[in-house]
Amino acid sequence: MTDNIKMIEEKLFSYLPEKELLEKSLIDSMKYSLKAGGKRVRPNLALEFCKLCNKPAEKAVPFGCAIEMIHTYSLIHDDLPCMDDDDLRRGKPSNHKIFGEDIALLAGDALQSLAFEVLSCEDTIRLTSAQACIKAVNTLSKYCGAVGMVGGQVIDLENEEKKAPIEVLQIMDIKKTGGLIKAACEMGCIAAEADEEKINAAGIYGEYIGIAFQIVDDILDVTSSSGELGKPVGSDINNKKSTYVSLLGIDKCIELVNELTDKAINALSVFEGDTKPLKDFAVKLANRRN
Ligand code: IPE
Ligand code: IPE
Ligand code: MG
Ligand code: MG
Ligand code: MG
Repeated sequence: MTDNIKMIEEKLFSYLPEKELLEKSLIDSMKYSLKAGGKRVRPNLALEFCKLCNKPAEKAVPFGCAIEMIHTYSLIHDDLPCMDDDDLRRGKPSNHKIFGEDIALLAGDALQSLAFEVLSCEDTIRLTSAQACIKAVNTLSKYCGAVGMVGGQVIDLENEEKKAPIEVLQIMDIKKTGGLIKAACEMGCIAAEADEEKINAAGIYGEYIGIAFQIVDDILDVTSSSGELGKPVGSDINNKKSTYVSLLGIDKCIELVNELTDKAINALSVFEGDTKPLKDFAVKLANRRN
């Protein structure tokens, strides 16, 4: 485990209510899905961008935790029978298979509000600044909402059983997956109180690796195994999804992922610090096997 991931894992669960409350089933369900098994890609990006802006990674930890909460909520809802209807997630039965659809739905809702509580709480303000926290709330809410991740999920659902053109797929992937990845990159710079030029550049990097990330996800849905992925393979074909893979085929998609990764790396040129960790991370994500 890298130092970044260790910092996130140590803090993430501390935000959950600990006491034996009447709503224990909800807290258990939230904890179950937040548990290890996730790659923590988005928090890692936030921490790396904070370091690139010459501030300690610790400053971005609450922001990284908040993004991981939103991401985890998106996965719980994504697996529900009314969405992708998938029974395996992060190597374990999907949330609704254990807690039922009702609690799974509510655990997603509660993770979403907890994320914004974390971004705006006293401890986080003390660690960064009130201005940075407000900017983080604004950024995350924009990228996870109706014109961000949730909007992207609607485009995904409404293009099932269709052959969506590349322009639609691009918008869909920028929103449903690129949004949170872009938010993570920008929020790392925001935690470091970097200037707008740097925040924008981080956003461009995030958008390119975000589209590439979803294309790789779609490739792995065809080429990997559920053992390696920790989630079902063939989900996209079963649901007759419109994806880059269904439109262009695997080889063209691999080319596209490499092009997008190069573009992301080029966007890092405005930073004066050591960009190697983020260059290497972009390449690692392009070549990932899970
Ligand atoms: C899966 O995201 C959903 C997509 C946006 C493609 P991740 O591949 O980051 O999932 P975890 O967090 O590692 O489980
Ligand atoms: C989901 O895309 C993106 C989200 C916003 C959760 P997928 O439906 O392809 O993600 P997986 O493959 O189930 O992780
Ligand atoms: Mg989906
Ligand atoms: Mg899915
Ligand atoms: Mg997928």
